[in-house]
Amino acid sequence: MINKVPESEIQNQIEYINKIKTLGEKRNYCINTMGCKLNEADSEKLCGMLDSMGYTQVEEFEYANIVIFNTCSIRENAEEKVFGKLGELKNIKEKNNMIICFAGCMSQEPHVIEKIKKSYSQVDIIFGTHNLYKFPEMLYNKLTNNNQKRIVDVWDIDGEIYEGLPIKRQSKTQASIIIMNGCNNFCSYCIVPYVRGRERSRQPEDILFEVNELAKDGCKEILLLGQNVNSYNPREGYSFANLLADLDKIDGIDIIKFTSPHPKDFKADVIDVIANSKKISRVIHLPLQSGSSKVLQSMNRGYTKEEYLDLAKRIKEKIPDALFTTDIIVGFPGETEEDFEDTLDVVRKMDYEQVFMFIYSVRKGTRAEKMEGHIPEDIKSERFNRLKALADGMLEESMNKYVGTTQRVLVEGESKTNKDMLTARTSSNKIVNFEGPKDLIGKEIELKIVSQHVWYLKGIIE
Ligand code: 5AD
Ligand code: SF4
Repeated sequence: MINKVPESEIQNQIEYINKIKTLGEKRNYCINTMGCKLNEADSEKLCGMLDSMGYTQVEEFEYANIVIFNTCSIRENAEEKVFGKLGELKNIKEKNNMIICFAGCMSQEPHVIEKIKKSYSQVDIIFGTHNLYKFPEMLYNKLTNNNQKRIVDVWDIDGEIYEGLPIKRQSKTQASIIIMNGCNNFCSYCIVPYVRGRERSRQPEDILFEVNELAKDGCKEILLLGQNVNSYNPREGYSFANLLADLDKIDGIDIIKFTSPHPKDFKADVIDVIANSKKISRVIHLPLQSGSSKVLQSMNRGYTKEEYLDLAKRIKEKIPDALFTTDIIVGFPGETEEDFEDTLDVVRKMDYEQVFMFIYSVRKGTRAEKMEGHIPEDIKSERFNRLKALADGMLEESMNKYVGTTQRVLVEGESKTNKDMLTARTSSNKIVNFEGPKDLIGKEIELKIVSQHVWYLKGIIE
């Protein structure tokens, strides 16, 4: 069964976009995106709608008349930040005749809605992750009915996949493509299954159409996004491996990346497709979370330390130039010093290109919240620092290996920190800054690497 928002409903929303445009108001909008790449991709959709309404994007809240918070609930610090920012807006709301919208994962948490209702009267529209496509209708209702109280439209049923609304891409050469929403895994620490619902995959035809259009428009690199991409399953007999193989055939697309796969679902067919492709990135994100089989079990990850290492070995056998990156949580309830040593052991064995490290943060409503053996903050930070020291050392070593080599890179644009430099990326995802003419942007070129600066490399055109 294909679950999609009906075409008539999408048309309905496009009509709202047009109606807002004919209101003829000149408004600026500012969007604050927190969290992961899926949220960034959702924000590109919201920006696409707002641009089509005739509005202009600005970077600073103080120049905006519409502000959207696209929020993240993955860890506590992400949640705290957004309330601070909401507080700051209270003073300029009236002056700017501002409409404040609260969207994203935090909107799906009942305690957050309660908190906004109680203490943040400045918020005008609250919508969740399942009904983002209804934003034009909500905004129209708010704009045309000034007396109307706050609009709250948050669904606790899984929203269907929708196609056909505008997207404002950040870049012409690279595009993020959401291939599925939601997660069925219920890792015991994770809020995602509660705020994003169950897995729903987009139809391959829709994805292939979108990528073909992007390629015609000059896009070179695509990043496939989903909470658990290798359980992509749009229908019987079509898997993530099939999708990769079909995307691999699209002329013009040179680089295909994906994130995140789940180690337990990383099957041989996907390994084979990567091995046979010249386009699919050799940098494979393989979230470990913990190196201890005991902790992995209480995290409900579905693999042991040995199974994880065996998967990496099988990948390396078929793809000898594969490089790994990972996510690790330190200080999960019940984690002993011995368990933590197991994590360090896997990190050493895997020789990761990059380790994304997180201190365990309690999430309301998850199974881990109620577990025994929560770890004191000082032990968590001490373990975090030890892991960081190990990962930093490995990163430096891996960066050193590039110095003196020639690398094929895709030039992404101007460097964010120095407008006189261009920034590019190697196939292994390393940033390379170099001096060169702006017409190289969007092209693949070769650069000689002359030095490394931990987070980036410096290169020259030979
Ligand atoms: N505490 C700390 N880190 C978490 N992550 C997910 N939930 C939590 C949590 N409650 C991390 C995982 C995941 C990454 C996106 O965020 O490592 O892979
Ligand atoms: Fe969260 Fe686990 Fe799903 Fe990833 S796989 S989103 S960590 S529940």
